[in-house]
Amino acid sequence: MCGIIGYLGERSAAPIIMASLKRLEYRGYDSAGVAIFNEADGQTSVVKSAAKVDTLVERLTEEMPEGRLGIGHTRWATHGRPTVINAHPHTDCHKQIMVIHNGIIENFAELRKDLQARGHVFISETDTEVVPHLIEENDQGDLVAAVRAALTKLRGAYAMAIFSQKDPDLLIGARLNAPLVVGIGDKEWFVASDITAVIPYTKKVLLLGEGEMVSITRLGPEVSTIGGASVKPKIIEVKWDISQAQKGGYPHFMAKEINEAPEAVSNALRGRLTDEGEVTFEEFGLTDRQLLKISNIKMVAAGTSYYAALLGKYIVEDLARIPVEVEPASEFRYRQPIIDQDTLVIGVSQSGETADTLAAIREARERKSKVVSITNVVGSSMALESDGVIYLHAGPEIGVASTKTFIAHLTCLYLLGIRLAAIRHRLAPERLRELTAELKTLPEAVQSVLDRAEQIQALAKKYSGHRNFMYIGRGINYPIALEGALKLKEISYLHAEGYAAGELKHGPIALLDGGFPVFAVATQAATLEKMVSNIQEVIARDAPVIALVTAGDHTLDEIEADRFEVPEVSEFVSPIVNVVALQLFAYFVATERGCNVDQPRNLAKSVTVE
Ligand code: M6R
Repeated sequence: MCGIIGYLGERSAAPIIMASLKRLEYRGYDSAGVAIFNEADGQTSVVKSAAKVDTLVERLTEEMPEGRLGIGHTRWATHGRPTVINAHPHTDCHKQIMVIHNGIIENFAELRKDLQARGHVFISETDTEVVPHLIEENDQGDLVAAVRAALTKLRGAYAMAIFSQKDPDLLIGARLNAPLVVGIGDKEWFVASDITAVIPYTKKVLLLGEGEMVSITRLGPEVSTIGGASVKPKIIEVKWDISQAQKGGYPHFMAKEINEAPEAVSNALRGRLTDEGEVTFEEFGLTDRQLLKISNIKMVAAGTSYYAALLGKYIVEDLARIPVEVEPASEFRYRQPIIDQDTLVIGVSQSGETADTLAAIREARERKSKVVSITNVVGSSMALESDGVIYLHAGPEIGVASTKTFIAHLTCLYLLGIRLAAIRHRLAPERLRELTAELKTLPEAVQSVLDRAEQIQALAKKYSGHRNFMYIGRGINYPIALEGALKLKEISYLHAEGYAAGELKHGPIALLDGGFPVFAVATQAATLEKMVSNIQEVIARDAPVIALVTAGDHTLDEIEADRFEVPEVSEFVSPIVNVVALQLFAYFVATERGCNVDQPRNLAKSVTVE
């Protein structure tokens, strides 16, 4: 969604805000704007651009506004097209109050009508513009009180940063159903959508809770609920540094992040899995006794995380023999799900902020289920609102397309499966040791796929002119086919469908012809012979085949197909190795076609609206 940053301190605000906006751009990138207050003349410079942050930076570089207080915004449009007028910051009738916002004000239409009836003049089509007008209306000399009064009238989701020219030593932040953190530096403070924005300046971060606001003066931050009750601030020390949020010599974040897959597996395993197969999670939150009571599991997630959850079903059911249902979070909450205190609901989300998934876990808690979230973002809403959390420890993922976090999610799901199986005594010690050893060799196997990226690049080059792709897989690699197709469509804008290979003949085979390549995940598996039959059916319709095969396996030798070999690992853990090849294929097709892989059109990294 949108990225927001606010600064109050001793330094010039504009360069800090611009640099932060660049780091936040993955959240939204259709337009951008800043407001900088200059204490010398008491005026605020508002500069906006109807394009990416770079265009704004160019304009600001020509004439850098002076001032030690400012806010900046990079937008993913919801209400109103990406125009200069709709770009944030938005302001009141007297252009005193500056507001930037991430989220959606659901009751903006009625608020706007009422405000207009009382004489307020609106210039944009956005929902956000009601906020400065509401603050203006409630402003009787106490900006914090005016903001509070305005916020209580809003329905929906918001993370905001606000300042007023009349009170230039005060920066206000507030959040409801959207993320906001406060960076605490040396005589300087930041409010931002995420930690990445502030990490070059400070590692000390205050996590603002749901429904809280912060008022920052030159004496420091004060946290309260929106209703006005004072709150003890939760401050953490960030463990990663800025180099992890930079491209590090790669042409794109996505390339860097795919190449971090071996590390993503190692980091997710580190300190959690002994050689004997004992699993411990640091902040899991549920005791073995509570876990033993669980009779069924629901996993809720969106997009790539949904496919990780689908794989989680295969893993957990196979290892722990507990029934698992997986549902898109956006569907779950609106259909009266059948869950109770014996259900474990697992929220799977890289960002921990996806509105649909957050709403689904809230629904689960209301229905008395236990909730565990598996997420990458420390202190994210899902982490804070769950009974327990499993962190991915994958480091920041900046590319909009999830890659290394998908791998880390799978790794954590294997660990969770082992843990659930162990307390139910479902795994023979021999099988447990074998599985442990397999998981520990995965980083090496993944690295060997990455080492042969050029071969995948050549395949991508050969196929990048096609407009349609079919991905097929079976068993535990069926979700990998779905994810391979999603990756290709989101970054290359090509049509790609993922199917269970056995389902192809029940309909989608009608699509196939010589111009419709099929990517088959045909690595060693109990069902490999069936997959070979499915591939033969594809070839009989003249569709070109790209097959992912296991090195040393000759089952497909006689088949007319392009091949990419992955190292031999067991079928059970093969998804982690296979998906890296599919991520690379999508990446190379997209770059071959000249697409912006890090910031694909119409998408945003963290989707905080329903
Ligand atoms: O942060 P989350 O994992 O909850 O995000 C869910 C989806 O929005 C996300 O996976 C999306 O599908 C990405 N574009 C995948 O590459």
